[in-house]
Amino acid sequence: MKLSKFGIFALTTITAATAQASIKGSVVDESGNPVHNAAVTIRTLPNLLSSARTLTNDKGSFSLGNAKKNQSIVVRKAGFLPETLSVVPNKKDYGNITLKRDPIENRIDSIMANMTIDDMIAQMTQAQAPTTTCGGKICGSALQGGGSYMADFYTKAWKQKIPVTYGKDNVHGLGDVNNATIFPHNIGLGATRDSALVRRIGQAVAEEMWAAHIDLNFAPAITVPQDERWGRVYEGFGETTELAVDLGTAFIRGQQGEKNDAEWRVTTTLKHFIGDGATDKGYDRGNATLTDKEIRKKYLPPYEASIEQGAQSVMVSFSQINGVHQHVDSARITGILKTELAFDGYVIADWEGIESSTTPGAAGDYSPGLVTGITSSEAIRNAINAGLDMAMVPSSSEAFVGSMKELVASGKISQERIKDATRRILRAKIRAGRIDNPNGPAAYVGVTQNIGSAAHRQLAREAVQKSLVILKNKKVLPLNTNDKVFVTGSHANNTGLQCGAWTQGWQGSLENIPGATSIQAGFDEVAQGARVATEKEAGTIVYVIGEVPYAEWFGDYRGKDFNNKIITKEDPKKVSFSSTDEYIAQIKAWQKAGHKVAVVLITGRPLPITSLINAADAFVVAWLPGSEGAGVADVLFGKVKPTGKLPHTWPKDAKQIPINVGDGKKGLFPYGFGLSY
Ligand code: BGC
Ligand code: BGC
Repeated sequence: MKLSKFGIFALTTITAATAQASIKGSVVDESGNPVHNAAVTIRTLPNLLSSARTLTNDKGSFSLGNAKKNQSIVVRKAGFLPETLSVVPNKKDYGNITLKRDPIENRIDSIMANMTIDDMIAQMTQAQAPTTTCGGKICGSALQGGGSYMADFYTKAWKQKIPVTYGKDNVHGLGDVNNATIFPHNIGLGATRDSALVRRIGQAVAEEMWAAHIDLNFAPAITVPQDERWGRVYEGFGETTELAVDLGTAFIRGQQGEKNDAEWRVTTTLKHFIGDGATDKGYDRGNATLTDKEIRKKYLPPYEASIEQGAQSVMVSFSQINGVHQHVDSARITGILKTELAFDGYVIADWEGIESSTTPGAAGDYSPGLVTGITSSEAIRNAINAGLDMAMVPSSSEAFVGSMKELVASGKISQERIKDATRRILRAKIRAGRIDNPNGPAAYVGVTQNIGSAAHRQLAREAVQKSLVILKNKKVLPLNTNDKVFVTGSHANNTGLQCGAWTQGWQGSLENIPGATSIQAGFDEVAQGARVATEKEAGTIVYVIGEVPYAEWFGDYRGKDFNNKIITKEDPKKVSFSSTDEYIAQIKAWQKAGHKVAVVLITGRPLPITSLINAADAFVVAWLPGSEGAGVADVLFGKVKPTGKLPHTWPKDAKQIPINVGDGKKGLFPYGFGLSY
């Protein structure tokens, strides 16, 4: 695996250093007053993860074990500049460590001096574009969901004194913008194990965002999906913490620069805090049964690393942990995220997520959720007091503002909380350059040539090449350009299917995507003349089949056995599971007629389809490759060596799910598997 210098993996080197006794000290402010709840960590810089962490007590004191030579003590607290000290061998007492007030706070003070509580409540509101006013004041943000995009929204949104940020799910490129470059979904990037590549993708997406006047991204998902039955597996980089840490931070470096200082920087959103990939049976928006230890070990490191890397926004999850809906989980939002990790940006709700906390587990037609009897207003109080700073309320922004005014007037939410939330939102806007430069970076804004540019498409093609995982190859691959190849199957010539969801619609599209190259067209580009029009003429048949696009719970598998089945669609909003028998029969018929058959599978997750894999002569997993289908032919013809490795353990059958590296189960193919030639 190719590791970034910031990855989790550097942690292993720490143990080699000589152990030293525990250290102690106190944290004070510039007036010498003790700072309570400052986060003290021991780190091996530039590693983004700490090896030990504690909080100062009421007297500002701390003690911490395992500080070693060549490590650093990093102290953080929202509102202050971080302090970094080198660990000195044999030094035990570090005395008073002074935290200086962050100068950004003075700027925020002066902006807030002119704001009323109503202005602040409006900052805390994310309405649906084209709305820019919330309770008559300027909203903090506006979004549009999958399937909608307004090219001119910025003309209203960005000319405000405090610009209204415009948020979209650019989870694999600008899915709803015509001719944008669509990169492989994160699961495919996980297969590349290439953080430098993911960083370049982060930058390319930021460039296309500015070109399209979008300044807020609801990405990256740094989820660690554990159960293939979950409809959002493909949105994560893979089943291990390492992949989310390494590739999530690489994406942020690309979007924001090494120190959140790139000229093209946009605001990234980490999602979904926390444990969204751990729900029981993989139910979307369901409950995760987890211990605190498991949360900290498996799901928290990607947040720690991504916050160190400069992410300014965290989206809370619709899911619950041991029954607690994540929008109202004060122990995790305020306790862990804002205090222990000293996150000083803002926490945003998911789509009408505060309201969803009144019926935890609700997911479309699948589940009405638990009827709690909690009112909408109580849910708002609970969420804001738990530490939520911005409400994503596309269909209830006015109702949210109304309830907030009442809750503040009656003292159920303190003015202090409102001010803290506003401060956090303004910090993020200042750091993103949105106050100094509301029109955005001139070199990138409105530069429409960057949308789907040749350079970005080439980058996406490289990502496709590196993401392909070859599971089986009985002397079929690489194909020869002199071979006669018949390229067929439901997904061979349909770019909507190869892009998956969050492309030209929330649930994706069953039609072609503007500007995209199909897998079949890619064959003609890479090996002109190799493709034949009928199976009879062919030596090898490339059979491109797979899952149809789905988003969120639409892709959940709930209920019947999905062994040897693939998700299909009768209409755009209704999925079903179809047996692989017909594909197997087709493969056998071709083989009987003397052809070799290479299956290319388009999928958002490993599928328990062992009999189909057994039937094929070669089996290639292409994940959800996006707009640059030619990357598939590049690898199949051996123009580029296959290097992709499984980002998930591949199950033998449905009964094995959940199956993950380290759980002792033996799948059909292990995590990290991938053939080459
Ligand atoms: C999803 C989020 C997404 C948001 C905005 C929600 O349904 O869970 O991942 O960012 O919608 O589209
Ligand atoms: C939006 C999505 C959103 C979803 C949440 C859809 O209407 O387009 O972006 O994630 O609703 O339920």
